[in-house]
Amino acid sequence: MLSEVLLVSAPGKVILHGEHAVVHGKVALAVALNLRTFLRLQPHSNGKVDLSLPNIGIKWAWDVARLQLLDTSFLEQGDATTPTPELVEKLKEVAGLPDDCAVTESLAVLAFLYLYLSICGKQRALPSLDIVVWSELPHGAGLGSSAAYSVCLAAALLTVCEEIPNPLKDGDRVNRWTKEDLELINKWAFQGERVIHGNPSGVDNAVSTWGGALRYQQGKISSLKRPPALQILLTNTKVPRNTRTLVAGVRNRLLKFPEIVAPLLTSIDAISLECERVLGEMGEAPAPEQYLVLEELIDMNQHHLNALGVGHTSLDQLCQVTRARGLHSKLTGAGGGGCGITLLKPGLEQPEVEATKQALTSCGFDCWETSIGAPGVSIHSATSLDSRVQQALDGL
Ligand code: MEV
Repeated sequence: MLSEVLLVSAPGKVILHGEHAVVHGKVALAVALNLRTFLRLQPHSNGKVDLSLPNIGIKWAWDVARLQLLDTSFLEQGDATTPTPELVEKLKEVAGLPDDCAVTESLAVLAFLYLYLSICGKQRALPSLDIVVWSELPHGAGLGSSAAYSVCLAAALLTVCEEIPNPLKDGDRVNRWTKEDLELINKWAFQGERVIHGNPSGVDNAVSTWGGALRYQQGKISSLKRPPALQILLTNTKVPRNTRTLVAGVRNRLLKFPEIVAPLLTSIDAISLECERVLGEMGEAPAPEQYLVLEELIDMNQHHLNALGVGHTSLDQLCQVTRARGLHSKLTGAGGGGCGITLLKPGLEQPEVEATKQALTSCGFDCWETSIGAPGVSIHSATSLDSRVQQALDGL
């Protein structure tokens, strides 16, 4: 087992098109955001495993000796990597969570324990570790914060247990793992996501692992070759919602009205494919008309998502405020509140962007101007930190 401090980060994501449809086997186009989750892992020798998540006020500690004595054979039953509901129930007993424990807190702890016991359980003795995870991503806003959490945990635990090598060489400030190692990280992160979300598609953990822009369908991932550098406004309506409930709501609507809802999902699939085609064309030979197509696709998808039942009045407001300024928006992620994206056309004057941000802020929303396509999970030097990491560590 490695004895050095590990510092890992992974990005959040926005889905351009295909949220919800992707759960039903359709294509999703997703891009990495330059808002990241960070994890610091310090091996120690006090016989404890400490987990601290300052963003949601969690500090949790377990005795390694107690965990070592537990019968964790349930982790090896059947497909060792599938967290079934029975397995999650058993993990709850192991965790010793109080009955009144908040859902977010308990799911984050369960995902950690699942990954720790499964990945580190292969060692002769479970390691004593101190782990802190913090994030620039707002939680529960559809930006893939839980996936970035699972990706960071998987990457750090696999590395400390030497299941994958630490790619950081002397003098590196930051580095990434090989394709094979990223595949393993992604596989474990997906299982962490399943503990948290039940039945996710896997798109969030894939973007957080690989970064850039991805096409995702039924577990098959391909990177878009030359995605154009699109500028967007990312708006958080701050209306809380639950991905699991929204995904279940779409499933119920599909079961109730198959003839109506299945064509909506097929149409969203066609929107994603058309968007992928246009983005490819933009990478080769950019032309202003392509933005008009992207805007039409955004409008059509937003209407479909409303018809699936995942809209919200706050998202309607976001669309209206931006539409009044000639800009086009849609929800991104699970919907029901959460976040939306607005396409910024090239040539848009900065005062106009600022005025739009201001109008959205005065609705009570948070708004960032950002571009898309950040690098995926990365390992950072713990000795020569960039200012963004240093600042966060100072505040811990
Ligand atoms: C959530 O960011 C995206 C959804 O499609 C759920 C999923 O893909 O797991 C709503």
